[in-house]
Amino acid sequence: TPPPAFVNAPLKDFSHERVREEFRRSLAAVRSRLGATYLLDIAGVPPQGAELEASRNPARPSEILGQVAVADVDHAERAVRNANRAFPGWRDMPVSARVALCRRAADIMDARRGELAAWQVLETGKNWREADADVAEAVDYLRYYPYRMEQLDGWQPTRCFPGERNHLRYEPRGVAVVIPPWNFPLAILTGMTAAALVAGNTAIVKPATPANLVAHGFKSVLDEAGFPPGVCQLLPGNGATVGRYLVRHRDVHVIAFTGSKTVGLEILREAHTLAPEQRQIKQVVCEMGGKNAIIVDEDADLDEAVAQTLYSAFGYQGQKCSACSRLIAVGRVHDRLVKRLAEALDSYDYGPPEDPAFLFGPMITRDAQQKARSYIEIGRSEGRLHYLGRVPADGFYCPPALFTGIEPRHRLAREEIFGPVLAVMRAPTFEAALTMALESDYALTGGVFSRLPEHLDLARDRYRVGNLYLNRRTTGARVGVQPFGGTRLSGTGIQAGGPDYLKQFLWTRVVSENT
Ligand code: NAD
Ligand code: ALA
Repeated sequence: TPPPAFVNAPLKDFSHERVREEFRRSLAAVRSRLGATYLLDIAGVPPQGAELEASRNPARPSEILGQVAVADVDHAERAVRNANRAFPGWRDMPVSARVALCRRAADIMDARRGELAAWQVLETGKNWREADADVAEAVDYLRYYPYRMEQLDGWQPTRCFPGERNHLRYEPRGVAVVIPPWNFPLAILTGMTAAALVAGNTAIVKPATPANLVAHGFKSVLDEAGFPPGVCQLLPGNGATVGRYLVRHRDVHVIAFTGSKTVGLEILREAHTLAPEQRQIKQVVCEMGGKNAIIVDEDADLDEAVAQTLYSAFGYQGQKCSACSRLIAVGRVHDRLVKRLAEALDSYDYGPPEDPAFLFGPMITRDAQQKARSYIEIGRSEGRLHYLGRVPADGFYCPPALFTGIEPRHRLAREEIFGPVLAVMRAPTFEAALTMALESDYALTGGVFSRLPEHLDLARDRYRVGNLYLNRRTTGARVGVQPFGGTRLSGTGIQAGGPDYLKQFLWTRVVSENT
């Protein structure tokens, strides 16, 4: 029988009371498990004794959700040894067996969708829809990469040459270190890990601290699916110590990182410095930040432009690499656009995402809150604060802010804020708007709202970002449909959830036989 074609997991429709009731039950079930301790599970490391770190609810920071044991560099050393030892067995397992394990994990994750999404609501401040979409994306990765791996399996003939038989085969690289961010806490972690594993590498996953419990949820899915010991180890720990140690380790072959530009550039530098006795070049998959712009053309449908920009800029409080943080208004549309945006923003309240009435919730940590608030102060000195929202006093909230009068040289137009702050700029023509949009170190997502086919075509040709969206929001890429990732200082350019991603975790070898 042919392998099953890949199909995206459908999103939950919370407009139905039955679906809402089901999710309330998932939240209650997760709430009943708060306060547990999550130990390290690394062969050779005693389960007790590691330092514990509290995971907190960002909407109510006094609420401790669980205590997570965090690794130190000695634990990391042990994890690398375990991963190295497990590698040959995992590499030599038939691709069909690795694929079957990933598919089993996908089915288990799908069945536990409510629970895994509920953890995200509590630990990372996602609203119901965003949390469910993140789990659905994670399920998709666990199905998409196996589907791609099946197409790369086996000896593949190269170009015909008389008197010879030539074949090429994809081989896994070795130990992969996976370092995800907290903002798509299950999807990105799962995507990078699934690619590493199905390709035949062993994986050490060092999650982002604010999403440690979500990462434990992921690991419990793999355990339930029956992955062999040592093939995938979860190693919660500090990025600057444990993360850096893993990146520098001589026995690591692949580093799959998604996170900030600062950390990504450091990882690229460190990974490409040969450690004593290192015998391979480390492959680095590196996806970083964005400073994404939406252009609203003079004739654009403002109902669409306003609703979609609002979602792109303020969804998950602007804490998405794909989020719109620059809005470029062409010609006369500026004043109407800004007025409509401010009115729409004013109709929303921020509050704890456990309550579905709130579309917008807290920032992930106090540091993130302070950083976003500091950019509101910077914005006041660079442009004009056109709108500032209201937020609850408790919790790590930052009010949504809309600035006008921003120019390309301003910090608000150049630096990734990763918060609910939107900088509006004016451009006299569509061409000038395109030039402005491209004036950035980053090139991740971009958007255009226009009714003119020639402007949409111009954008298609010249607006060189990883993901360009025409007349729709700039967030919410779907696996296999919109392969996702950027270029310039946004990333290494091969997109996640796309046909080429898996090859980064593989190398090719060729056998030629004289016949
Ligand atoms: P971050 O760079 O602070 O941390 C990412 C991960 O790196 C974490 O697991 C962290 O512990 C680890 N880390 C930190 N210092 C390290 C070091 N010296 N060595 C090794 N590991 C280290 O990013 P974040 O705050 O978790 O996430 C937000 C950032 O991620 C934003 O810049 C956002 O744009 C970006 N992001 C990009 C994409 C994409 O696909 N391009 C997707 C999501 C998020
Ligand atoms: N894949 C995420 C999105 O498209 C980052 O919003």
